[in-house]
Amino acid sequence: MAALGAIRASSANKTPLIAIDLSQEHLDIVRENTPFADQTRLTTRCGRFPTEINFEDNSLSAFHAANIFHFLTGEEFELALAKAFKGLEPSGKIFTTVASIYSTRTDNFVEYYQRNLDKGIKWPGLVSDLRQFILNSGGVIDEENHMASNMVHFFRLQEYQKAVEAAGFIVEFCDYFDFENTGDEYERHPKSWITMVARKPQLMS
Ligand SMILES: C[S@@+](CC[C@H](N)C(=O)[O-])C[C@H]1O[C@@H](n2cnc3c(N)ncnc32)[C@H](O)[C@@H]1O
Repeated sequence: MAALGAIRASSANKTPLIAIDLSQEHLDIVRENTPFADQTRLTTRCGRFPTEINFEDNSLSAFHAANIFHFLTGEEFELALAKAFKGLEPSGKIFTTVASIYSTRTDNFVEYYQRNLDKGIKWPGLVSDLRQFILNSGGVIDEENHMASNMVHFFRLQEYQKAVEAAGFIVEFCDYFDFENTGDEYERHPKSWITMVARKPQLMS
């Protein structure tokens, strides 16, 4: 789990950590799997981000959102970036992983995205009913690996990076990738995911 990776990555400097999830059950799993030495620096907060979670301004040194932002509507995504930006201290970093438009296992999603973009739709990768979209496209639903939510917001790198920059961040790295060894029988696209590192500028004008 990405949260446990963040705990391991910060074990040397012993920074306080806040794990956020809308599921208490998932937070309990993070708690149970956190090494004894890291228990006291971990706080868990149950709630939907960004609407139900707030941070004190400039109180965070890093913000890690792995596989979360594609569960947000466009407005929630903008609010999430704004809350992360305000919560981070100057030079604080944001790390994100989101599903890309190439991850849907339907041949026509990229064309659908481009059509929406050409029409000037603000969030061209937002699908309110992914299951129906896949079936309508003649695709197959892989029940084991299907997204947890049926509303999914897929991104293309250019627009994703633009949105992050519009929130005030300086993007340090942004690229497509795919996870290895997923045990997935379907052929996966090498650009299925977007990973990004960005920072809040040091001096605010
Ligand atoms: C695909 S899992 C990713 C978990 C972990 N970050 C990882 O990469 O291993 C998605 C998690 O996000 C949570 N989640 C989905 N939407 C959320 C939201 N708006 N606010 C907080 N948690 C959310 C779900 O409950 C689930 O635990």
